[in-house]
Amino acid sequence: MKFINTFFSIVTTLLTVQAVALPSRSHNKPEKPAYFVLAGDSTTAGSSANGGGWGDGFLNTTLRKPASGKNFGHNGATTVSFRAGGDWAAVLEDVKSHTHSNKVFVTIQFGHNDQKEKANITLSEYSANLAQFVKEVRAAKAEPILVTPLTRRQFTGTPPRVRENLANETKATLAVAKSSKSRFIDLNEASTEYVNEIGPEASYVYNLAPDDYTHLNDWGKVVFGRMVSDLMVEKYKDIAAWTKPNATLSEQIENGIPA
Ligand SMILES: *[C@@H]1O[C@H](CO)[C@@H](O)[C@H](O)[C@H]1NC(C)=O
Ligand SMILES: *[C@@H]1O[C@H](CO)[C@@H](O)[C@H](O)[C@H]1NC(C)=O
Ligand SMILES: *[C@@H]1O[C@H](CO)[C@@H](O)[C@H](O)[C@H]1NC(C)=O
Ligand SMILES: *[C@@H]1O[C@H](CO)[C@@H](O)[C@H](O)[C@H]1NC(C)=O
Repeated sequence: MKFINTFFSIVTTLLTVQAVALPSRSHNKPEKPAYFVLAGDSTTAGSSANGGGWGDGFLNTTLRKPASGKNFGHNGATTVSFRAGGDWAAVLEDVKSHTHSNKVFVTIQFGHNDQKEKANITLSEYSANLAQFVKEVRAAKAEPILVTPLTRRQFTGTPPRVRENLANETKATLAVAKSSKSRFIDLNEASTEYVNEIGPEASYVYNLAPDDYTHLNDWGKVVFGRMVSDLMVEKYKDIAAWTKPNATLSEQIENGIPA
């Protein structure tokens, strides 16, 4: 009994210390603002003839200042070319120049080009390359977030359903997140679900050009940038704290209503 009483008194003391210590610590030392470094292909990249992804919409419309970030999305990039062409080195440089002042996150989204035959990249090479990115982000003292590939807006069948032609890359990315215990969001699942719910016509509203079912116009960037944000906010409190909500848009996405 004495032992049990002592035990409870220690637990109570610990809980009290904890309750007092946590708020004062966060009060005296505010969290550094989030800084997002976006690594990926054209479905992350800013606007150009063959590019237009969620990256700029995410950075421009979902972050609460002074949180910010930089979009390193590169049209046509694979997990191999992104490193070979110097983009990855630029990402790590940018990470290093922000870790002193920011809590740095690096989103990593590939697959659209890795899967093309001409890339000659096997699924296991793709996975190994993603795992290596995760490792190097951690070594640079930043937090990796693996992102499964944004769906293409191509439909098939009656009623029309999205052609799920990034399923292998999605599974592989999720497996890397699991084995490396990395943060991740399943953008492929969320975007597939959303465009299935709103259907082809409403989905084509986001096309960069009428027959471009992969890249996003400026409104598409905002919508899918918000989707990326919502997926992060749902799982990660330290990101939610640096997010500027748009309840209307988030509800449209959540409920499968065309935005
Ligand atoms: C985001 O901001 C950048 C830099 O100001 C601008 O070039 C781009 O057009 C903006 N994109 C969107 C979708 O708001
Ligand atoms: C594909 O890559 C493998 C090695 O990774 C190489 O042996 C092979 O020649 C390449 N094939 C083509 C068509 O480039
Ligand atoms: C996915 O992988 C399976 C083998 O695991 C293969 O048969 C299939 O063609 C792949 N799908 C795509 C779209 O590449
Ligand atoms: C917020 O959502 C509404 C409804 O979709 C949209 O009209 C508006 O442009 C959004 N604002 C921002 C900053 O994303």
